[in-house]
Amino acid sequence: MNDLFDLNGKVAVVTGGNGGIGLGMATGLAAAGATVVIAGRNSEKNAAAVSQLLAAGGRAIAIEVDVQQEASCHSLVQKTVTALGRVDILVNNAGMNIRKPPQDYALAEWNQVLQTNLTSAFSCSQAVYPEFKKLGAGKVINIGSMMSIFGASFATPYAASKGGLVQMTRAMACAWAADNIQVNAILPGWIDTALTRQARMDVNGLHARVLDRTPAKRWGVPGDFGGIAVFLASAGSDFLTGTAIPVDGGYSVQG
Ligand SMILES: NC(=O)c1ccc[n+]([C@@H]2O[C@H](COP(=O)([O-])OP(=O)(O)OC[C@H]3O[C@@H](n4cnc5c(N)ncnc54)[C@H](OP(=O)(O)O)[C@@H]3O)[C@@H](O)[C@H]2O)c1
Repeated sequence: MNDLFDLNGKVAVVTGGNGGIGLGMATGLAAAGATVVIAGRNSEKNAAAVSQLLAAGGRAIAIEVDVQQEASCHSLVQKTVTALGRVDILVNNAGMNIRKPPQDYALAEWNQVLQTNLTSAFSCSQAVYPEFKKLGAGKVINIGSMMSIFGASFATPYAASKGGLVQMTRAMACAWAADNIQVNAILPGWIDTALTRQARMDVNGLHARVLDRTPAKRWGVPGDFGGIAVFLASAGSDFLTGTAIPVDGGYSVQG
């Protein structure tokens, strides 16, 4: 049974792995035996995350990346292969939000959100595909949102990017299933991270609304994402592809 979820010998790249949900997933993957590449822009945060994983007995390195740049996504994969010899798992987690009513966005802001949240996942997945083909296997895990499902008045480009991620997940899952590559998405509910700490300041009444609507009656924490990341990265999910799994304390099924 343990072998189903054993990631020893596997290399996992986690974009935005230096904090929040990304670090929660990286911690789970490292505990299951994977060597984790922490891929973020901020080198101090990257180094701190690597230290945390090493201190817990895991294996990890950091590689700087700006996922808004296609060339940086390709270089991330090349540097991973040079340093560690292979890549088995890609977690497309890096993301950001700009909160405004739709009529107030500059096109540059729309583009920045789409580029960071959606196009980056496309570019990193394209970059990793030849490596997965060489190994005859691979796992892509995309991080969506409740806004992959629902709308929000203050998050038009974010909702577009996260909805797009789910459809991209389905399309790539169809394209690559015959290559033994599984592509799935995780849809986090409301999770206490730097991203939502800002949202709680920007959006009046958000904190209380989240607690009220979430059946689990709490905000999620990054540690809630270790288990699902290991499952989607492991042999335990080899016949599961194209899905979008809410990890939300019941938020999305509350009537
Ligand atoms: N928190 C929630 O409630 C929630 C809910 C649904 C979905 N999500 C999604 O979960 C993912 C992680 O969010 P989080 O809540 O953990 O927020 P976070 O703590 O702000 O983490 C965002 C991560 O993305 C990285 N990042 C942003 N832009 C980047 C870029 N251009 N290149 C490389 N890395 C970049 C950041 O690294 P640097 O600091 O180094 O740039 C950081 O590690 C995002 O995709 C977010 O949309 C979060």
